[in-house]
Order: sequence, then structure tokens, then C-alpha cells
Amino acid sequence: MVLIAVAGGTGTAGRAVVAECLARGLSVRVLSRHIPAPSAPAFVPGAAYARADASSGEGLAQALDGVDFLIETLDARSGAALKGLPAASASLLRAADAAGVKRAVLLSIVHAEECAMSYYGAQAQRAALYRQAPLPTAVVLATQFHNLVAGIFAAGARVGLIPVFRGVSFQPIATADVARVLVDAALSDAGPHHAIVAGGPAVHSMKELALAWKAATGRRGLILPLPLPGSFGRFLRAGRNLVPGSAVGTVGFAEWVAQPR
Ligand SMILES: NC(=O)c1ccc[n+]([C@@H]2O[C@H](COP(=O)([O-])OP(=O)(O)OC[C@H]3O[C@@H](n4cnc5c(N)ncnc54)[C@H](OP(=O)(O)O)[C@@H]3O)[C@@H](O)[C@H]2O)c1
Repeated sequence: MVLIAVAGGTGTAGRAVVAECLARGLSVRVLSRHIPAPSAPAFVPGAAYARADASSGEGLAQALDGVDFLIETLDARSGAALKGLPAASASLLRAADAAGVKRAVLLSIVHAEECAMSYYGAQAQRAALYRQAPLPTAVVLATQFHNLVAGIFAAGARVGLIPVFRGVSFQPIATADVARVLVDAALSDAGPHHAIVAGGPAVHSMKELALAWKAATGRRGLILPLPLPGSFGRFLRAGRNLVPGSAVGTVGFAEWVAQPR
């Protein structure tokens, strides 16, 4: 049976990849530094779990032993962990090559190389490493997740204010849709290094998304237009987070918010 390793399979996107693989009847081994208890939300019944640290390299060789395809959904948000993220991806790729993995697939973000914010810079560096890797690779460039947009609204609603950044639209995508694209990319026999762009089904202004979020959740809060300064604000206002020609997502934001979870 085909064995897929999901590095970061306990995270937001990774859990959806694990569920997608299991739904297709594939075997899954999750690699992360912490193994979730069977009662934890990060635990997906049917998956195997291996403790491995892509930063130190500890446990990687054993975790990748016998693996056919690797899907990487690692992440780090700030500080030394973020700075070290490209090196972690590089060590994962080396270990995958040494283990004879047939293809490695990275999840990254659309147009990350155009944003000066360090988080986006790290994502762009990782994508470049995959393009130069000694084994066949693919990079899936996704738009922002529904979780991210809903998380901004939920954080604001806790203090009664729902922020919407002036002049900003999103094309958010469900992690289930991203997972489908990642697994397709892993199993495809496309060229040695290829990129796939995965956008959500529709572009909406942030205000439209805030109204949809309020309607679906019943949460209260004043919608507050705010400027978003800095390089991320410029990136978003220029619409570089949008890929309307690659709207492969099937689950819209309002539908996603209304789903039980
Ligand atoms: N958020 C968005 O809107 C968005 C949009 C498009 C693309 N993306 C991409 O999606 C990727 C995944 O994001 P996410 O939100 O799913 O991340 P996440 O929830 O923070 O999950 C990160 C995962 O990586 C693991 N991990 C981190 N460092 C590790 C290390 N050194 N060795 C082994 N495992 C490690 C974590 O587990 P442990 O801590 O247990 O190790 C966890 O399983 C990001 O890199 C980004 O490029 C995100």
C-alpha cells in the first residue's frame, strides 16, 4: 500500500491532509515533534505517528523509512523557529532523498516572494529549496485559509470589535480543499519540479467576509474598518494574495463557517 508521510500532520493544514489520505485508502505516517494523545483534536484515528524534529534532524531517518511520498505542512510563526524554518525544510528534503522518497510536496502561500514580511520570506525560501531539490517535488501555493480569516474576526469579537482592513479582499480556501490538491500533487507523475496554485472559490472584500461570519456564527461586534500598515498591508491592498484564475476551492467561506467543528 502507498505510504504517505505528512510532516506537520498535527497542524491545521496537516490534519486535513491526513484525513484526505485516509479517505483515499492510503497509509499515513504523521511526523511532528509531539505525538498527540488519542483524545486530542490533533489525533486522527487510523494514522500512525512518529516523533521527528526537522530542525535538529532527530528521528527523521526512521520516520521516513519506507515512505513513498512526503507532504510538508510544517510552520513556525516568529523568532528563531521562523528563522530556522527554511533549514528545517532543507533537512527534511535531504532525509527524504536519502530514504528514497519518490516525491516531496510543500504547502506554501501564493506570491509569498512578493511580500517583505519575514513570515512570507521564509515561505518563499522554502519553495525555492523545493524547486532545487535532488528528488522530484511539487509546491502547492495556496491562498489564505478560512481559519485565518475567521480567526481574525473571532479575536476581535472577544472585545466587541471585528476588524476589517481597508481596501483588502481575500479569496480564502478550506484546508480540506488544500489537502485534496496536496495529495493529488504527491500522487501525480508531473515533471520533476512543478507548482500548483490553489485559490478559494471566490474573492470577497474583508467586510463581506465579516458580515458573512457574523451571520453564520451569530457573534456580535462592531465592524471596524482599520488601515493595515507595513509590507503585509501593501501586499494585501495590491491584491497579491488573490488568484482569481485559479479558484480551485469548492467550499465557500460562509459554508465553511456554518460547518460543525
Ligand atoms: N494560514 C494560512 O492561511 C495559510 C495559507 C496558505 C498556506 N499556508 C501554509 O500552510 C503551512 C502550514 O500552516 P498551518 O497553519 O497548518 O501550521 P500549524 O497549524 O502551525 O502546524 C505546523 C505543524 O508543523 C509541526 N512542526 C513545526 N516545527 C516542526 C519541526 N521542527 N519538526 C517537526 N514538526 C514541526 C507542528 O507540530 P509540532 O509542534 O508538534 O512539531 C505542526 O504539526 C504554512 O507553512 C504556510 O506556508 C498557510
